Amino acid sequence: MLNIKTLEFLNKQIALEGNASATYLAMASWCERQGLKGCATFFYDQSSEERMHMMKIIHYINEMDGHAIIPHQEKPKADYDSIQELFKIVYEQEKEVTAAIYNLLSISQAENDHSTTLFLQWYVAEQREEESQIRDILDAIKLIGTGGQSLFFIDQEVAKINAQKEEEDLFEDEE
Ligand code: FEO
Repeated sequence: MLNIKTLEFLNKQIALEGNASATYLAMASWCERQGLKGCATFFYDQSSEERMHMMKIIHYINEMDGHAIIPHQEKPKADYDSIQELFKIVYEQEKEVTAAIYNLLSISQAENDHSTTLFLQWYVAEQREEESQIRDILDAIKLIGTGGQSLFFIDQEVAKINAQKEEEDLFEDEE
């Protein structure tokens, strides 16, 4: 049986992950319309990952005989001024998700909910990876600058990151 306080915050986390998935989907669609194929692929994949993060929590709660609440979905922002703006928003969003995971972890530890504490370790590692990846993209964007072909080069950089991720996923599947 799940601790009542951790259950409340796990349900809040379902909503956060679901909203992140919807936001990434809106970003992917925006990028696709701009012809930024690399960025669109990155965000479509990211949206699927966030959905998987949400699903993991739903299954965990139910497995622990709790009640997972499926949240109301917030409508994500549909238009962006620039790809630079978009990645800055993403970075802030990921930092908020990390803070929420840390808060949830502190609660589970304070409540001696050892199972949830263990469950959350995966999310801590995942957030570290995601934040680091987005920082890499922001660094690349800064280096490329805002010259005439900057969008082309930014999209190429993101496409390289997609290929790298795909390779890492294959490697993980083989392990
Ligand atoms: Fe699952 Fe990137 O938050």
